[in-house]
Amino acid sequence: MSMPIKKRLIRLFILALIGLIVGGGVAYFQIQSEIKNGGSRDVGPSKMAGVSVGGDFILTNHLGTAQSSDAWSEQYKLIYFGFTYCPAICPTELQKISAVMNRLDEAQAAHIQPLFITIDPERDTAAVMKDYISLFHPALIGLTGSVAEIDAVKKNYRVYAAKAQDETSGDYTMDHSSYIYLMSPDNALISMYRIQDNIDYILKDLRSKLAL
Ligand code: NI
Repeated sequence: MSMPIKKRLIRLFILALIGLIVGGGVAYFQIQSEIKNGGSRDVGPSKMAGVSVGGDFILTNHLGTAQSSDAWSEQYKLIYFGFTYCPAICPTELQKISAVMNRLDEAQAAHIQPLFITIDPERDTAAVMKDYISLFHPALIGLTGSVAEIDAVKKNYRVYAAKAQDETSGDYTMDHSSYIYLMSPDNALISMYRIQDNIDYILKDLRSKLAL
């Protein structure tokens, strides 16, 4: 842990505020591209027009051990793809997942496994993931892997991610798509939630589709 938790939380809070502003812009862009592509809000399997999204995977969890998706073959999953150095959107979306989990009762929550999969495996080692996920819901599991392993999962889940130059730090940052995926126990797509979908919307959709 390079920074004390409290300092990091304050930083995350400030960055989340910036994220709301930036997120608005990104959301606008996503709506525009969705309109252009004739997309709709409901992207359940029936509307994916033969494009399969999801699938099984074996990665490395935040404790450094191999983790197969088979471990959650009885559970639904809420999956977010992002990276721990993300200044804004990733922490906001992970806070959203945490809030959704907290609003479910214990029996409902037991049916859902929240997962955070890094799209920046070069920096997000298991140890880095462990520190980072400790800032969010206790059930959250962080997953990393080799670049090839992460590439394969990104491809199956139709995740866009690319390195970009960070003007302020001189280090790189990651441009990436931002959706929370609701997956079935056998890892088929049920819903995708966008940046502008709030906690109430996600809960309502989740409850209707999972009959929790
Ligand atoms: Ni991000």
